[in-house]
Amino acid sequence: MTKQLYDLILKDGICVLPSGIEQLDIAIKDGLIVDIGSFSSSQATRTVDCKNLHVLPGVIDSQVHFREPGMEYKEDLESGTRSAILGGVTTVFEMPNTKPPTISEEALNDKLQRAKGRAWCDHAFFIGGTLNHDIDWGSLEFLDGCCGIKIFMGSSTGNLLVSEDEALDEIFRNSRRRIAIHAEDEHILRERAHIAQEGRHPRFHPEWRNVDSALNATKRIINIARRYKHPLHVLHITTADEIEFLAQHKDIATVEVTPQHLTLTDEAYERIGTLAQMNPPIRSQQHQDGLWEGIRIGIVDVIGSDHAPHALDEKNKEYPASPSGMPGVQTMVPLMLNHVNNQKLSLQRFVDLLCSGPARIYGISRKGRIAVGYDADFTIVDLQAEKTISNSQSASKCGWTPFDGMKVKGWPQATIIRGNIVMQNDEVQGSPLGEKVSFIGA
Ligand code: DOR
Repeated sequence: MTKQLYDLILKDGICVLPSGIEQLDIAIKDGLIVDIGSFSSSQATRTVDCKNLHVLPGVIDSQVHFREPGMEYKEDLESGTRSAILGGVTTVFEMPNTKPPTISEEALNDKLQRAKGRAWCDHAFFIGGTLNHDIDWGSLEFLDGCCGIKIFMGSSTGNLLVSEDEALDEIFRNSRRRIAIHAEDEHILRERAHIAQEGRHPRFHPEWRNVDSALNATKRIINIARRYKHPLHVLHITTADEIEFLAQHKDIATVEVTPQHLTLTDEAYERIGTLAQMNPPIRSQQHQDGLWEGIRIGIVDVIGSDHAPHALDEKNKEYPASPSGMPGVQTMVPLMLNHVNNQKLSLQRFVDLLCSGPARIYGISRKGRIAVGYDADFTIVDLQAEKTISNSQSASKCGWTPFDGMKVKGWPQATIIRGNIVMQNDEVQGSPLGEKVSFIGA
């Protein structure tokens, strides 16, 4: 038999290209997109019929917590990445608040090693900012498989914390890459800790971690970044006030919001209690409207899930003993497609926020767009599919979702990574083939 010209053809899909939306075929060879146009199925070893489906660049989730090493009962790299591909995600960036935390070359290499043959999607890991003065941030941040430094300015899950300006200053002074920031002000959180007393309802969570705790930290970190002309990425923005503030600082700061902050409001505390508890918190409708305005007027660059699974028996502890965080890597695409169907954003803006946005701000090489020469990563979606999100679909070890019972329109139909079909019709295919991501200039 003669060798086929291509390994795979995606046929007749409605493709979201940098130049617009067009019904075309995509030809793939050796893991790369090699041609876009019109091809016969006979030219390829395998063809996927994409008629009536939208073909998007692979979705990149640039904020997940996969708990390995140290808390594998909540999640591990295998289960977390399996959730990702079932949710149409092709690449993840994983956070450093594991046990031990990812704060050294050894810890980073350990994660990369653990991911080999077990990760279902492509991946990179953050190095956690710490108070250790002996760390050479400038070399750590550019290690292979590292997506950059992540700093917690306020305490959250784990013990990574850099709360003081001097210490933050030191990291910014000694690094170059875009730093990802969890902006909650530890001083304000401590002053207000009495609000989250034992016996209080979880609805007090956003009152404890109030608007000022978020806004103040965001203002402080922008000041520091300006001092060093250092780019930063402010994670999971939750307030209308921060959107308004960050609009003045787009020359230095990129911005993330999460699907849960765009979908849930403080009503969720009454309905699902501590399952709605996360840091920074789910807030009022007014703040959610502010986040949507930030998406509409171009302040928000990226949507990331902040997938932060905890076991149900932990979440069922009485507030505030219940841990903060909720899973999300598997539900990000369906929730955001549902918002597309509800006209909250266009499909092109979806691709901008979930595919090309992360690639642009972190400088990922060969990902984030459908173009010749790029990795053949695709999230193929059925915009017409109507489904109900349920706990039983969850591949995460935590086994629950705050969106259990929610009806959505729009669903990932297949996930393709470097030309390999790893998910189709809600079924995992093949074996874990995830590789570390590479970065421009790193
Ligand atoms: O709610 C949260 N949970 N916020 C964070 O910043 C950390 C995360 C976790 O790791 O559980």
